[in-house]
Amino acid sequence: MTVRRRAVIFGCMFAFFFVIFFRLALPSDESPEQKIASRQKRFPLVWEHIHQSSGHGGAWYIPPHWLPKGTPPPANITHAATLAAAAADSAPYHLSHTSIPRIIHQAWKSTNIEHFPAGALPAVEAWLRYATESEPEMAYFMWDDEGIFDLMGDAEPKLLYHFEALPQMVEKADVFRIVVCNSVGGVYGDIDTHPLRAPQTWVDAQDIRPWTDTETNTVFATTTNHEEPVKLIFGIEADTEEDSDTYWRHGYHYPVQLTQWALAGAANHPVLNRFLANFRKHMDAVTFGATSEDGNISQEAAMQKLDPIMLTGPAAVTEATKNYLAEKASLRWQALSGLQDGGRTKLVLDTLILPITGFSPGRGKINNMGSKPFSDPAARLRHDAQGSWKHFDIMVELGKTCRTLFGGCRDWSTVPG
Ligand SMILES: *[C@@H]1O[C@H](CO)[C@@H](O)[C@H](O)[C@H]1NC(C)=O
Ligand SMILES: *[C@@H]1O[C@H](CO)[C@@H](O)[C@H](O)[C@H]1NC(C)=O
Repeated sequence: MTVRRRAVIFGCMFAFFFVIFFRLALPSDESPEQKIASRQKRFPLVWEHIHQSSGHGGAWYIPPHWLPKGTPPPANITHAATLAAAAADSAPYHLSHTSIPRIIHQAWKSTNIEHFPAGALPAVEAWLRYATESEPEMAYFMWDDEGIFDLMGDAEPKLLYHFEALPQMVEKADVFRIVVCNSVGGVYGDIDTHPLRAPQTWVDAQDIRPWTDTETNTVFATTTNHEEPVKLIFGIEADTEEDSDTYWRHGYHYPVQLTQWALAGAANHPVLNRFLANFRKHMDAVTFGATSEDGNISQEAAMQKLDPIMLTGPAAVTEATKNYLAEKASLRWQALSGLQDGGRTKLVLDTLILPITGFSPGRGKINNMGSKPFSDPAARLRHDAQGSWKHFDIMVELGKTCRTLFGGCRDWSTVPG
């Protein structure tokens, strides 16, 4: 290679990295106004239905034909949700094969588009598109922090005290999603979930076919309501062998664990009621029985010791569902695993459990757990990279690495301290 050619190649590489470096290192040259204008253009539905809303407690969209002509616009989100729930109380307004109303719920601290994490906007836009532009339409609710408190006060006044004692908004949001499905009913999705299929048709005839637990030869089939057998939908987040240590090495509490970044339910479901009763019980134990060997500890200190994943998170959702279905339907929990049957949807009583691909498709090769690509027909939504807006804690991260790589640190906290 001639010296000249080398110089040219080197020059090109230098120019290339120079350009990349400055694109990354320099702040975007958009002014705040330009940034807002570009968001308006790229996310017109978020702009119209969320950013421009002036309602109290959040923003909402109710298909106009759902309400009688001349209904005055609701003044606040809890009132709007009551109207939507009443309108969607019959079969034509339910998700296919379910009695779950066609209502989408999401939550974020404010409805000002400037306060949204940029990465969430395409996902929220996609939810709104399914609500407003696909047939049949769905109602859509974006609850802000005030709206969340209003709903808790209306729907679960006896839990308000426990709710307010939760130290972090993340945990309040965990409880809220259960309460909103259990009082209003509908589909809940975190703002970093991106729907891949219209929620209206998430459940099809195949999903509700009878299935057999091949270990116990128990057949699970709907016996009561053949038209709308489903009242609750959960998806699997972790699917591992029962007697291996994989699940805790990856930070899960159960070999088969449910996710709660998305769920759907009809109001007043016994599993959701049980979750709320468990939450109350755990909180009461902390509030009224907080002691340690060396004397009393403060309520706050006791709260810090409660693991949010166990108290309000995926493990709490799994515990409530697992125990209820074991009692009422003798379900062997591990029978829900899709590792042996390629991942099929399973109906137990009126609770539908989607395989891992349902709400967690497109996992990488490592720790894949049977998750198929985003394009798989079983994929209902995808969960985008867990937001950087969540807490980062070096000890928790070290514990994670220690468990994953070395299989140690089983009891190391998974909670930021
Ligand atoms: C919401 O609006 C209804 C109906 O106007 C009203 O009765 C209720 O008090 C309002 N709630 C809040 C929290 O503003
Ligand atoms: C712990 O709290 C109880 C009730 O408030 C009180 O009676 C007791 O003396 C306290 N114990 C200690 C060691 O502070």
